[in-house]
Amino acid sequence: MTEIDAYNEALKSGQYQKPGGLLGKYDNVRRFWEDEELGLYLRPYLERLVARRKERGERLRMLDLGCGSGDSFEFITSISSQSLISKHNTKVIEPDMVEVYKGIDINEGLLRQAQAIYGGRQNMVFVRSDFNDYDFSSEEPYDLYLANYGTLCHNTDEQTVELLSNIAKHSKDGALIMVDWLGRFSYEWQTLWTKDVEHNQWMDYVISYIYSDSGGKEQPLTHFPLRIMGRQEVLHIYRQAKRKAGGIITLRKLADRSSFVGRHMDTAQYNPHCQPLRRLVNSLFEPDLCTNLDEVLVVYVPRDGFAEVNAYHQRLADCWNYLVTYTKALLEGSKLPEALTEMPQPLSRALSAMKGAVTAAARMKIGNPRASLVEPQLGYCLRELEMGLQRGWGCGHGLVAVFEVVK
Ligand SMILES: C[S@@+](CC[C@H](N)C(=O)[O-])C[C@H]1O[C@@H](n2cnc3c(N)ncnc32)[C@H](O)[C@@H]1O
Repeated sequence: MTEIDAYNEALKSGQYQKPGGLLGKYDNVRRFWEDEELGLYLRPYLERLVARRKERGERLRMLDLGCGSGDSFEFITSISSQSLISKHNTKVIEPDMVEVYKGIDINEGLLRQAQAIYGGRQNMVFVRSDFNDYDFSSEEPYDLYLANYGTLCHNTDEQTVELLSNIAKHSKDGALIMVDWLGRFSYEWQTLWTKDVEHNQWMDYVISYIYSDSGGKEQPLTHFPLRIMGRQEVLHIYRQAKRKAGGIITLRKLADRSSFVGRHMDTAQYNPHCQPLRRLVNSLFEPDLCTNLDEVLVVYVPRDGFAEVNAYHQRLADCWNYLVTYTKALLEGSKLPEALTEMPQPLSRALSAMKGAVTAAARMKIGNPRASLVEPQLGYCLRELEMGLQRGWGCGHGLVAVFEVVK
């Protein structure tokens, strides 16, 4: 299978394991933007689920479909509950709340990596299987089903409908299912945008981004097909799964993740206009490293014939650029930029947060407050901007869906 070869190549490169920072699978954008944003999308539903299970003295059972090296365990147990600055960081799922985490994957190499990281824990199990063939009906139901970072893009729509409806039928009231697909209208693959979504469902994907600045160009890499998804397509799958399951599954959230910071921004492999914004946002998050903010400005090049999608990207780019320019002016003590004709609320909130951060940094005489305080804050504010402006159309690298089982 070509996808097994592709992940094995990535594993062999040595860049597909922890730790991260500026490069590799676990770079800063993965940790502080992507994982956290996924967690923020899920949090309201997860908090409710945890509260309900706690009320009944129950713990959580999790099934991770296409678990790879088991990253979703860390992701899910790292989601912070909303807490005050004075409080110690508290997690929505505390360690003793996990009854069992089971990861399923077809890739032995990745499962070995998962075993090496988590194998010592009694409540964590990894199984080699195709999740479409896996018979979980003989097991106790799970509370949380995860298929993160494009896992379901390996499936046909029929397989996904079947999988979602089986999960819904098998699980208890209140169970959550979190999945994501590659966004159909991500700027990263603008050349693939199409109006004929029926006949153009798959992209030829390559994990080239983890191979340093060269984008893996010096070696032949395995390409494999992945399903790209827009809002209407997800809704279509959802309606079919709901019908098949007898109405017991509800879509709670559909949201874009990683606009302008997806993995293929830096490779420009599918869109020659892409700037290496992931590298630059990685640098924003990196302590003790100053970033040239002029380079963080987005030059959005529209594609004819996609007015709505262009308008979304352009609005995000305008707000993004305003926030960056405003922050730069605050840092330099120069004139603030003229207000935009439209100042959406997420932008106003971000501006006020940056003003606070720069004011606080100016009073600090220790370390490098610009690199370690202001710039990471700018990274978070750009992420908040995306979360506030996104429409769930498939305009980010990922299109995230949270379903709840209602019985
Ligand atoms: C993009 S990776 C995501 C890995 C992991 N979920 C994460 O969050 O990092 C997709 C994973 O799904 C696995 N996979 C794809 N199709 C599968 C299938 N039908 N059954 C089991 N695993 C599958 C691949 O081997 C790979 O580990």
